[in-house]
Parts: sequence; structure tokens; C-alpha cells
Amino acid sequence: MDTILTKIEKGQPPCQEELSLLLSRPEDAVRNRLAQSARRVCEAHYGKAIYIRGLIEFTNYCKNDCYYCGIRRSNAKVARYRLTKDDILSCCAAGYTLGFRTFVLQGGEDGYYTDDRMADIVTAIRSAYPDCAITLSLGERSAASYAQLKAAGADRYLLRQETSVDRLYRHLHPPEMDGKKRLECQHTLGDLGYQLGMGFMVGAPGQTSEDLAQELLYTTKRQPQMIGIGPFIPHADTPFGGNPPGSLSQTLLCLSILRLLNPKALIPATTALGTIHPTGREQGIQAGANVVMPNLSPLAVRKQYSLYDNKICTGDEAAECLQCLGRRMESVDRHLVIDRGDALPS
Ligand code: SAM
Ligand code: FES
Repeated sequence: MDTILTKIEKGQPPCQEELSLLLSRPEDAVRNRLAQSARRVCEAHYGKAIYIRGLIEFTNYCKNDCYYCGIRRSNAKVARYRLTKDDILSCCAAGYTLGFRTFVLQGGEDGYYTDDRMADIVTAIRSAYPDCAITLSLGERSAASYAQLKAAGADRYLLRQETSVDRLYRHLHPPEMDGKKRLECQHTLGDLGYQLGMGFMVGAPGQTSEDLAQELLYTTKRQPQMIGIGPFIPHADTPFGGNPPGSLSQTLLCLSILRLLNPKALIPATTALGTIHPTGREQGIQAGANVVMPNLSPLAVRKQYSLYDNKICTGDEAAECLQCLGRRMESVDRHLVIDRGDALPS
């Protein structure tokens, strides 16, 4: 085991069997050692800075029916909403005043936001906030669409692959969805010059240690600038509503391994991590993360973007309580910075 750990600490990916063994029965001493090394590596590249992203969840309409997701199209209990361009610009204005220099526009795959409508929104943000980064997270679109949005001023794109394992992808999604298409979209985004964010859920229904090892290695091989992972959390009104959530400790372990294998990646301590444990995000930072993404969406719609049960959205993680978040980060010897927070060149 010591050989595997040393390899990971040197930034060398182990083979899938070794990694899967490590993930299947990790001891506390192993987790602590990797978390400490991950923290050190993160600090060597990014110091004690924690980058903030203002998350604007602008639509909860979605044409997809992912079995794990609370806003899937079959969930008739969701009160659907869409934000207008003016709503989104108001969120950005509030966020800019608070100190945000990255805005993340995330939503379901909603046909209402055609390429022209979306490009118009991106152009407006770009011209109002030339010193800010614009990140999109709109799911799968055509290469032409991604190109148009890039030309309009988008810098980054978050598209978790969810899984690169075909069997697991089919277990988590309905037959009309295609995992290969999602992986192709990630390639297209990278080719177009977007800073790319990849990622997956830890403890997703049906996910084995081998799958998890494969996901860590696949993500590392692609060298994305951003890596977002969080525990799976069930949503009562979905087919996986009765499944257990992913564990905090396994998510933290994955985070540490990803940091060590991808030293310069920007890695958030996600909302899902903060949802499964009151200090989940602080623990994420201590395991090697260096980004937090407070919610900038209008208060009136926040509860409606319910991807999973009990999603935190009105407490310390909310953008308007940045001071509380700052204090949380200081409790783990880090501080929030006002900065676009681009990835260091690889
Ligand atoms: N539609 C965009 C897309 O497909 O990338 C962005 C929105 S999607 C809801 C954002 C992410 O939420 C997904 O990539 C997924 O990993 C995560 N997510 C969805 N349901 C979840 C659940 N039940 N528990 C944890 N994370 C979940
Ligand atoms: Fe589309 Fe979740 S099913 S965002």
C-alpha cells in the first residue's frame, strides 16, 4: 500500500487495480496522509487562496430524465422557472458588488435558451463585466453552439461526464441518452479553447470501487482545468430516491487523490459536500479543494433548483453571506480572494 500512496503523492497515476484496492478499504491513516499531502500540493501552487464563483441557476426546465436528478423532466412535482436576461444581469450586478469575478450560469437542458438567446445573455454579461470570467454549465449542445457561446465571451464550461463507464452510464440514464456523446462534448469544448470542468458523483447508485478508480484515472488523463466532484444525494421524487447517499469520507479521499494527480486543477468544495455534512466544505478544503461556489440565484427560485433532498441554499453558502463563508475558510487557515481564479498554465 505504501508504494501506491507514494506513487500518488508524486503525481503518478497508479493502475486501476491498485487504485480500486485503495478505494475499497481505505484506513483513516491513509485518508489523513493523502489529505495532508493534497493540502500541501494545493498550497504550493495556489497558496492559501480560495476562489469564489457566483452560481446562477437560471432554469430548472430540463428535457433529460437522468434517474438521479431532482429536476428531471418526469418529476411533475417541480415548480419550473426560467430567469430572464435582466434577472441574470441583476444577479451578476449583486455578485460583482459582493466581490465575485466569476459567474457560473447553470441550468437544465432547456430548449427555450436557443443559441441566439444564450449568446445574447453571454454578450451582455461580457460587455458589462469585462474583468469577469463567464462559466457555462448547460449540458450537451452542438459544436456550433459551443463555438457561438465562446465567441460571445464565455471562458469556461462545466460538463461532468458523470461516468465514462458504459455499463454505469446506462444504469443512471434512460436509453435515449448516450454517454459517448457526453464525452465527445467534453472533447469539443476543450478543442474550442474553453477551460473545461469535468467530474462525477461519488457513491452514485451502482458505482463500484473499480468504476470510481476508472473515473479518477479517466479524469486525470484528460487533464481538465477544473474538476467538480460531490457525493450522490438521493432525491425522494426520483427512481433512486431510496438509495443511500455517497459518503463524506469517500468523497474527501477522491478529492485528495484528484488533487495529487492534478496539482494545478481548480477543485471546488461542492454544495453537495456542504449538504451531507455541516462542515463538508471546510473538510473539502482540508482535503485539497480550493474553490467554493456560493449561490447567487434570486432567493425566490433557489428552493426550486432541487437536484437532491435538503440541498443547502439559504445559509452560509449563499452569496449574500460571503462573510460567514470567509470565516469558515479562515477556520481552516484559508481566505477568500477577489479574483477571476483562472487555472495556472499546465
Ligand atoms: N444540465 C447541466 C449538465 O447536464 O451538466 C448542468 C446541471 S446538472 C443538474 C449539474 C450536476 O448536478 C450534474 O452534473 C450532476 O453530477 C449533479 N447532480 C444531479 N443530481 C444529483 C444528485 N442527486 N446528487 C448529487 N449530484 C447531483
Ligand atoms: Fe437535466 Fe438533471 S436531468 S439537469
